[in-house]
Amino acid sequence: MYFHTINKAEPMGRTLMLAWILVLCLWQILPCVPKVEKVTNLHFFLHETTGGADPTAVMVAPPDITSNDNSSPVPFGSVFAIDDPLTVGPERNSGVIGNAQGLGVSASKDTTTVVLYLDFGFTKGKFNGSSISIFSRNPVIEKERELSVVGGRGKFRMAKGFALLKTYFLNETTVIVEYNVTVIHY
Ligand SMILES: *[C@@H]1O[C@H](CO)[C@@H](O)[C@H](O)[C@H]1NC(C)=O
Ligand SMILES: *[C@@H]1O[C@H](CO)[C@@H](O)[C@H](O)[C@H]1NC(C)=O
Ligand SMILES: *[C@@H]1O[C@H](CO)[C@@H](O)[C@H](O)[C@H]1NC(C)=O
Repeated sequence: MYFHTINKAEPMGRTLMLAWILVLCLWQILPCVPKVEKVTNLHFFLHETTGGADPTAVMVAPPDITSNDNSSPVPFGSVFAIDDPLTVGPERNSGVIGNAQGLGVSASKDTTTVVLYLDFGFTKGKFNGSSISIFSRNPVIEKERELSVVGGRGKFRMAKGFALLKTYFLNETTVIVEYNVTVIHY
């Protein structure tokens, strides 16, 4: 079937050569038996502290404009470095299972969205040493939101998936977010 477009008047040599190329290609491809996809559900809480003596998210670049609504804690254009602990339960002392490291950028003019570029690394259990990469807009003012999982490391190599988020607790300096992550990986 692969050859049905080849002109019959063509010299045989060229057709044979194409056939050999195809055979060689198949020979290269066939030993790669497709791996079975796995689906893993992760449930944890992320703790972010923006104030006090030991913040886990700090502004590293303020916006260089004056037209911002200065009352927002995340003025449009500000960039944050993040290293937030992840715990089993909502309490800060419920057991740390990893951390989320990366950047948050206040990327909407109305300051309702922070785009997150985060690596969620795990330090406990069977996913110790593995991580998932999240790159997504996060409409922080909505109580529930969805972020995309775009990759991973270790056991989560080639991962894709999504995370469902719910704000569990919020005050001026602390936010606790519940994460339900569905990860498809190999
Ligand atoms: C996680 O992996 C690191 C590095 O391999 C190891 O030092 C540590 O003991 C492991 N922790 C757990 C809880 O398995
Ligand atoms: C996570 O899943 C649990 C169990 O299905 C559910 O009770 C909880 O509301 C979910 N949380 C989020 C943030 O989706
Ligand atoms: C916010 O909540 C945290 C955790 O309960 C607490 O440690 C902190 O003092 C609170 N901050 C303010 C400004 O109320």
